[in-house]
Amino acid sequence: MNYDSILSYIKPDQKEKAKVEELSKKIINFLDNLSLQKDIPSKAVLVGSVAKGTWLSGKADIDIFLNFPLETSLQNLKKNGLFLGHECIKKMGGMAEERYASHPYVTGTIDGYEIDFVPCYAIENSSQIKSAVDRTNLHNIYIQQNLKSEQLNEVLLLKKFMYGVETYGSEFKVGGFAGYLCELLILKYSNFEGVLKAAAHSWEPGLIIDLENYDTGENFTEPLVVVDPVDKNRNVAAALTLQKMSEFVAASRNFLSEPKEEYFSKINLNGNSKLVEKLFTRRGTETILISFKPPEVPSDAIYPQLKKTADSMSRKLSDEGFIVENNGYWTDEIDLAVIILELSLWSLPDYKKNVGPELWNEYHSSKFLEKYGNQAYLEKDRWVVDIPRKQKDIYIFLNYYLQKENIHHLKTGKHLKKKILQYHEIHDVSDFLGKNPPPEILDFLFRFLNPGQQLWR
Ligand code: CTP
Ligand code: MG
Repeated sequence: MNYDSILSYIKPDQKEKAKVEELSKKIINFLDNLSLQKDIPSKAVLVGSVAKGTWLSGKADIDIFLNFPLETSLQNLKKNGLFLGHECIKKMGGMAEERYASHPYVTGTIDGYEIDFVPCYAIENSSQIKSAVDRTNLHNIYIQQNLKSEQLNEVLLLKKFMYGVETYGSEFKVGGFAGYLCELLILKYSNFEGVLKAAAHSWEPGLIIDLENYDTGENFTEPLVVVDPVDKNRNVAAALTLQKMSEFVAASRNFLSEPKEEYFSKINLNGNSKLVEKLFTRRGTETILISFKPPEVPSDAIYPQLKKTADSMSRKLSDEGFIVENNGYWTDEIDLAVIILELSLWSLPDYKKNVGPELWNEYHSSKFLEKYGNQAYLEKDRWVVDIPRKQKDIYIFLNYYLQKENIHHLKTGKHLKKKILQYHEIHDVSDFLGKNPPPEILDFLFRFLNPGQQLWR
């Protein structure tokens, strides 16, 4: 396949390059001047895909790292780093937002570009690492030294392909491939098709890619191990889930057997509310949505809690005898979060079997009989009793478990629990669709119904 036409719209042109470079320079000058003025020992450096020339056209997020000497206290690094970021955004008329991942940083939008201001330590090698983001400078240098200029296009194609088949991004929400991981894969397999061919035909869980031959790959347990060339103790693919690794392999096979340009853009689902409702009805299952307000915590904290809660609800329901076919979650991270549960059995009989001790254990048998008396019967050598079931129906069941006194039976995650207790609604899918939900959620519901669509064109 000839990739020129794809490259023509994913490769930043001279005009975009000049604009991004100029803005980056302006920001760096401002930051370094202000540091000088305020006697802050920080040096601003452009890193990330913009510095490496591997950003996709129209998607430049400008990563500016504020390098502090190793002897700076973490407290001063945070304080001064946040100060510099805020001042810069203010000065350039942008909008600031403070984020606390494992590390504090400021992000702001200036001239339509998202700029991250991340304070870090100016390290020279991995043995000096003091904070989670310190490696980034070393990544930058490694890629600039090792990636050949003709491979830049290959990185862009790989990133865009991964974006199209929805496996790009190492944030928890996706669990896919980070930008730096794409660059390392190109170094390993030379070019875009090389990566896809390897993935399609030879990848399997447990694969170790160790470009610098550190021999530390065995120390990691994730499905794909890519030993960081600048730090033998880090797996660059640590965030990649088995799900996304498998999806990438499947999409690579599909693409190679019939290459199409459409793989480089996300599929357009165009689901409307009526159609989604019809598709759910046709499945003959009962689909329930629990809606509430998402907590005000970073995105990488919301999604794990949503997953944990959805999984815990499913487990609890299954333990009780309901049959949960699928679960999922979605949030806009601001106003609305939903957990979705699709059940093929959602109403249970009036009684439930309560299995007791073995008859041979006389002590426990007598305890059991004390409680249930002649209602107890034997199944082979085990005492059993039929007891009335309190929550026969899924709605009653969920209502009960989402109350303050009972929610501790579920593993919800701290922030989510608070929000669910403050306010939640339980709907079936048509009820929910009748309330004019935001259009993005239709997209989510469509995907829930068609979980593999992004792999095919
Ligand atoms: N980084 C990392 N591991 C991650 C995420 C980020 O090591 N899981 C480092 C990388 O060195 C990366 C830099 O932080 O280059 C900036 O992160 P990000 O903006 O997410 O990645 P980019 O490489 O800039 O790619 P993109 O084009 O998506 O911005
Ligand atoms: Mg970036």
